Amino acid sequence: MNAQAASSLDTFTSVNAGPIIMMGAPGAGKGTQSKAIVERYGIPQISTGDLLRDNVVRGTELGQKAKAIMDRGDLVPDPLMFEMMTVRLKGEDCCRGFILDGFPRTVAQAQWLDNLLKDKFFDKVCSIPPVVVSISVDYNGLLQRLTGRRSCPTCGRIYNVHFQPPKVSGVCDADGSALQLRRDDTEEVIKERLHAYEAMTLPVKEYFRAAGRLVEIDGDRPVDQVTRDVLRAIDRHGNRL
Ligand code: AP5
Repeated sequence: MNAQAASSLDTFTSVNAGPIIMMGAPGAGKGTQSKAIVERYGIPQISTGDLLRDNVVRGTELGQKAKAIMDRGDLVPDPLMFEMMTVRLKGEDCCRGFILDGFPRTVAQAQWLDNLLKDKFFDKVCSIPPVVVSISVDYNGLLQRLTGRRSCPTCGRIYNVHFQPPKVSGVCDADGSALQLRRDDTEEVIKERLHAYEAMTLPVKEYFRAAGRLVEIDGDRPVDQVTRDVLRAIDRHGNRL
C-alpha cells in the first residue's frame, strides 16, 4: 500500500493493527474517533468508561464499588482497573489489536500496560508497538461538547445537540432508540472529571511523549477532519502509508 493508494475509506480488517491508545480530556472525542478506527481496522474499542458503566448497570461487585466514584467524577482505583483490564484484554477479539479508549489514565496504569504488553500472550499483537493518539480541545469546547452529548443505549452511536444532532430530536438515526444523557455529564461533575484529567492523566501524556510514542492531534475541528488525521497517524505508524 503506498501513500496515494491509502484513503480514509480503505479498510484493513485482516492486518495486525497492534494496540492503539486514545488519549484526551473528557469530551475530546476519544469515543467518536475510536468508532472510525473500529470501521477501518475491525478491531475492538475497549472503553473503560463503558465497561465500568456496564458493571454499574449489572450491579456487579466492581460496579458497586465504582458507582459513587464515577458519579463524583473521580478515577476508579488502579487495582480495580487492572483486574477488569486483565480479563478484557485476554478476549480473543484482541488478537489483531485493540483500541484503548480511556486507559491508561494514571502513570501506574501506563506502566502496568507496558508490562502486560511484554507478556507472551500478546506476542503477535505487539509485533507493532502501541501508538498513542492524543486529541486536544480547549476547555470551553469540552464543556459544550459534554453538556450537549447524547448517546444511543442500543448501538452506542454518539450525538451532540450542538454539533451533530440526530435527524429527529432525542431519537437515534440508526435504530430509533431514545437517546440518553450520561449521569456524569452535569457541569459540576464535568469540572471534577477535568480536574482529575489534569492531575492524574496529563503526566501519562508526558510518560508517552518521553518514550517517543505520542502523536498529538488538534481536536478543535470538525469530526471528519480529526478522523482523517487520526487514521493517517495510525496508518503511518503501522507502515501502511
Ligand atoms: P469515560 O467514559 O472514559 O469518560 P471520559 O474520559 O470522561 O471521556 P468521554 O467519554 O466523556 O469523552 P470522549 O473523549 O470519548 O468524547 P466523545 O467522543 O463522547 O470515563 C468515565 C468515568 O469512568 C471516569 O470519570 C472515571 O471515573 C472512570 N474511568 C474510566 N476509565 C478509567 C481509568 N482508566 N481509570 C480510572 N477510572 C476510569 O465526544 C464528546 C461529545 O463531543 C459528543 O457529543 C460528540 O458528538 C462531540 N464531538 C466529538 N468530536 C467532535 C468534534 N470534532 N467536533 C464537535 N463535536 C465533537
